[in-house]
Amino acid sequence: MKKMIDIDFGSARYDELVELRYKVLLEPLGLKFLDSYREKEIGYIHIGCVESLDDKLVGGLMMIPLNDKEIRLMQVAVDAKYQREGVGHLMVDYAEKRARKAGYSKLIMHAMLSVVHFYETLGFKAEGDIFEENGITFVKMVKKI
Ligand SMILES: CC(C)(COP(=O)(O)OP(=O)(O)OC[C@H]1O[C@@H](n2cnc3c(N)ncnc32)[C@H](O)[C@@H]1OP(=O)(O)O)[C@@H](O)C(=O)NCCC(=O)NCCS
Repeated sequence: MKKMIDIDFGSARYDELVELRYKVLLEPLGLKFLDSYREKEIGYIHIGCVESLDDKLVGGLMMIPLNDKEIRLMQVAVDAKYQREGVGHLMVDYAEKRARKAGYSKLIMHAMLSVVHFYETLGFKAEGDIFEENGITFVKMVKKI
């Protein structure tokens, strides 16, 4: 069974999450995780999904407050062995509830074109033109929560 957890910045779980995000998101694109990124993540909300049987972290994401109403979802990553089993949906649903509880009314994210459909199934809508960052094409997606 999978369970959702909040992860404290700087904890052992946070290190596990950084490693997972690196393997799933950065390494395939040839990008490095720089230690200087860590400091920036101190005020963010970190969320993980754990397999209860072996306590393994199978997925995670972070949320970055933009202002009083809007919060940005970033670095949604599911371990390759557990993709397409519903973990992504569980995590984004949990993040949405967590954000609403904290008083936010809008989730914002920049989705790679390959995962736009995944976010559409979660109620996000594409907004504006597609754009490029580091050679990767994204579109802004939003959801009122
Ligand atoms: C994208 C990702 C977060 C989805 O999580 P997941 O646990 O695999 O997704 P779920 O099982 O909850 O939902 C899967 C459904 O989403 C849709 N989907 C669309 N594009 C998808 C994609 N590239 N990967 C996975 N699911 C995708 C499909 O409808 C799929 O259902 P299907 O298997 O019946 O076709 C995960 O696959 C992942 O980490 N991928 C690599 C990193 C990445 O691209 N992250 C997004 C950064 S913007």
